[in-house]
Amino acid sequence: MKLFIDTADVTEIREAAALGVLDGVTTNPSLAAKTGRPFREVLDEILSLVDGPVSAEVVATDYEPMLDEARELAAIHKNIVVKIPLIFNGIKATKTLSDEGIKTNVTLCFSPMQALLAAKAGASYISPFVGRLDDISHDGMQLIEQIVEIYNNYDFSTEVLVASVRNPIHMLQSALMGADVATVPFKVIMQLLNHPLTDSGLKQFLADWEKVPE
Ligand code: G3P
Repeated sequence: MKLFIDTADVTEIREAAALGVLDGVTTNPSLAAKTGRPFREVLDEILSLVDGPVSAEVVATDYEPMLDEARELAAIHKNIVVKIPLIFNGIKATKTLSDEGIKTNVTLCFSPMQALLAAKAGASYISPFVGRLDDISHDGMQLIEQIVEIYNNYDFSTEVLVASVRNPIHMLQSALMGADVATVPFKVIMQLLNHPLTDSGLKQFLADWEKVPE
C-alpha cells in the first residue's frame, strides 16, 4: 500500500519525506488555507520535496472553468494529479481529462456508486473520505471494502486512495482490504511508527548494554 501525506504544511512534508517511505502528497483547499501562504508557492515547494504524485484541487465547479484550471495545474509538473470534486461537472471533466492523459483524483466520494462512476470516467484515483463518514455514524471502512470489491470485479485501473484517515486502525483496515493508497495526516504517520513496547524495550537494551564488560 502506498503512503501519501495529507497536508500542505511543508515542514511536515519535509519531515515525513526524510523517513524515506513517503510515496506522495494530497492537498485540498482547506489544507492550503491553513498554510497562510500563496498556494502556487507552496505547491512548488512540495514538488521539490517529494518525487511522487502530488494532488492539487480545482476550485471551479463549472465544466469549462474546471478543465482550464485542471490543465493549468497539470502543466506545472509531471507529478501533479488534479483533484476533482465528485459532482456532475466533475465526472464529466474527469472523462475529458482522462482522454487527454491528465491524471485525476476524484475527491469527496461517499458512496460506492459514486466510485463506480469515477472509475468509468477514467479517474486515476478515487478518494473516499472514511473519517467524515465515521463522524456521522456511518462505517467509513465499509465503503472502502465495497469499492475495492467493485473495482476488482471489473478490473478498473482507478486506484483506491483512502482519505480522511484519522487513526492507525483506518490504516490497518485499508491495508487488509487491499486499498492501493492511504493519505494520512503527519500525526497518524507518527502513530503508525511509535509503539510503547519498542520504546521501553530499547530503553532496557541500552541500559543492559552499559553492564556489558569492555
Ligand atoms: O484531503 C481530503 C481528506 O483527507 C480530508 O480529511 O480529516 O478533513 O476529513 P478530513
